Amino acid sequence: MLVAERIKNCFIFLAFCAILIKTEESEILETLHFKPGLVTKSSILKDHETMDDKFYNPNDRDGITQLAYITPWNHKGYKLAVETAHKLTHVSPVWFQVKFGYGKDKENECNIEGIHEINREWISNLTEKNPKIKIVPRILFDGWSFEDMQILLEDTNFARRCFNSISNFYSRNQFNGAVVEFYMQALIALQSLQYKDLMIEIMQDLSKKFRKLKLSIVYTVPAPLDWNNKPNNLVTPTDYHKILAASDFVQIMTYDYHGNEPSGVAPYGWFENCIFYLKDNTFKTLAGLNFYGYEFSGGKLNSIVSDRFLEVLRNKKSILEFDKKSMEHRLRTESSIIYFPSLSSLELRINMAHRYGVGIAIWDYGQGLNYFTNLLV
Ligand SMILES: *[C@@H]1O[C@H](CO)[C@@H](O)[C@H](O)[C@H]1NC(C)=O
Repeated sequence: MLVAERIKNCFIFLAFCAILIKTEESEILETLHFKPGLVTKSSILKDHETMDDKFYNPNDRDGITQLAYITPWNHKGYKLAVETAHKLTHVSPVWFQVKFGYGKDKENECNIEGIHEINREWISNLTEKNPKIKIVPRILFDGWSFEDMQILLEDTNFARRCFNSISNFYSRNQFNGAVVEFYMQALIALQSLQYKDLMIEIMQDLSKKFRKLKLSIVYTVPAPLDWNNKPNNLVTPTDYHKILAASDFVQIMTYDYHGNEPSGVAPYGWFENCIFYLKDNTFKTLAGLNFYGYEFSGGKLNSIVSDRFLEVLRNKKSILEFDKKSMEHRLRTESSIIYFPSLSSLELRINMAHRYGVGIAIWDYGQGLNYFTNLLV
């Protein structure tokens, strides 16, 4: 039974609530290959570079999508992607930004930046290793003001020019498609939910351009639930269905959780509720999976990558424990708490993705420990 259903039943049989949820938790932990107790400080230090294909099952993948983001600023992701290319269906190098520009002839235009990042040799290394791999570089609507965004929504000629430049750029460069980060950027620029329908309409327009050129398009949407699991209305199931219909995949940002106390990067219950809330057409849904961690110290929260995690892990005084509430491992010192993904926490979430039939999108490949990739099927 799904946790969400179980919780619903709990309200009916209030007395059994605690028992039911507990059972569910231990059941889920019981089935893990990497049970939390097996992940220790010394096992991490010993094994984190060791890669294998234990879970790799190319003949029984059932159309499961496994996308990895590669960022130029976490450079080791490039090499890791080539090494594990056989397990990845999509690779999204985070290369491009689209900016609002005022053209010379007073016609507004969209400028694509980041072109210097294109790395053809790396792409050919990837496709050599896995001829079926899809290269879908990310493009981010970056630095758009309220006015810029309004022009995009209201000036159909401008939107057409802008979308033509983006789709032609991707086609000319022979990419397979794009991950387009528009939705949240538009909401931030517009500071209002009232534009959502217009936003979705122009996303449909952009998709049409992509599809005409046989390019796939992946949109990203924010997590639909707040830290307390209440809908935040940034994206409702109705919005989500419309975006799904207009795209090949939609990635839900099921990370960057911000609670009122240190409680993980993607607490398990919240992660599941986000997927459950939007649940539809699941094979087109990608759940975001973080390979980075959080460090809470001195009242501040910082995102951290594996180097920092290993540094604190090597400190004899740090204590590694499994937080059953978030279902994530955490590392405690006198002055800080670090939540960082582990084989257990990732296996739990990947198993959940499989239960729901959704794919995964990893942010980002260069931030984690190499052996995390052993969990890919
Ligand atoms: C591509 O592969 C070759 C041969 O393994 C290697 O020498 C080169 O560094 C790789 N280039 C990139 C950018 O990954």
